[in-house]
Amino acid sequence: MSDNVVPPVRFRADVLAVPAYRQGATPTKPGYKLSSNENPFEPLPGVLDAIAQRSDINRYAAVAMPELRETIGAEFGVDGTHVHLAAGSVAILFQLVHAAAAAGDEYLHAWPSFEAYPSLGLASGAVASRVPLTPTAEHDLDAMADAITERTRVVLLCSPNNPTGPAIRRADFDRFMTRVPADTLVVLDEAYREFVTDPEAVRGEEVLRQHPNLVVLRTFSKAYGLAGLRIGYGVGDPAIFAAAASVAIPLSVTGIAESAARASLTPAARAAHAERVAALAERRDALAAALRELGLAIPQAQANFVWIPETGQVPGGVADALALAADFSEAGTLVRPFAGVGVRVSVGEPESVPVVIDIVRQHLAQR
Ligand SMILES: Cc1ncc(COP(=O)(O)O)c(C=O)c1O
Repeated sequence: MSDNVVPPVRFRADVLAVPAYRQGATPTKPGYKLSSNENPFEPLPGVLDAIAQRSDINRYAAVAMPELRETIGAEFGVDGTHVHLAAGSVAILFQLVHAAAAAGDEYLHAWPSFEAYPSLGLASGAVASRVPLTPTAEHDLDAMADAITERTRVVLLCSPNNPTGPAIRRADFDRFMTRVPADTLVVLDEAYREFVTDPEAVRGEEVLRQHPNLVVLRTFSKAYGLAGLRIGYGVGDPAIFAAAASVAIPLSVTGIAESAARASLTPAARAAHAERVAALAERRDALAAALRELGLAIPQAQANFVWIPETGQVPGGVADALALAADFSEAGTLVRPFAGVGVRVSVGEPESVPVVIDIVRQHLAQR
């Protein structure tokens, strides 16, 4: 909840103790918004038309959305019954942890990782267990396997990891899965999968069918640029999703989001999408390389952002993440600081890249 606000009614003390998810900052002056890993491109061809044609907004959407689920399932070699839609993939994370882990049960995730993970268990009383990343900002899968206990119900793997960038390697993933009990759910959160260029990275569509306890999560928010419409999906065993649906908020996926997602998967839209994703990955690599030239230890960047660590975390970082973010903000560019840990900079418009490099260069020169 918000700082220093006490509700006038009796609320759960454990809920009141947990800070609410904080969205990346919103610009207050002209500049670049590089704080939420959004897509800088305009909507894909056909998307705005598809939205405009959705005039039936006085009705609830028909939630089955079979065509969209079939299309997505085909990418994974499964039928649409293995696909679960929700108002953002973050909703599916909540559903799965809620459905699998009761009060006192554990779910495991790396840290630092997606900021929503620590509070996923709040409603059910499930306990989040964090395993620190390695010094190169990667998942420490051996330590994560060691941390699985009798009470672990869900393991969350974020690949590429938000906010640090590295993807999990396929060989490491395969070895990890041999150590996970077959009745423990593993969620491979691939919100940034489309930006992955490392041939050794795990790819959900290649491993899904080998593991009945695996769910792959994807979203239309990032590479497809539909963050504001809220639509994401999971792929896995239909029985897992039947349980997730039991704890889902009903009727959350709108017909407009469904139409936009379908329009994003036509051949023309896919071609434009592939070009844009390739451009963003190239821009990311150029930005990471330029920051490394300034002496910074930028970890492998496989998503649409780069991570600037603090020196306390690794040699070759900045002294103070908040101070660097303040310099960005002063220049009208918003990034995402993680106090004491580092700064995440999303890959935005082409013109933003030299601006980012300049701000960092000046920041380093002042210290
Ligand atoms: C790793 C990761 N997973 C899931 C999400 C949720 O995305 P959405 O709910 O927009 O699908 C995000 C959003 O930032 C993310 O970074």
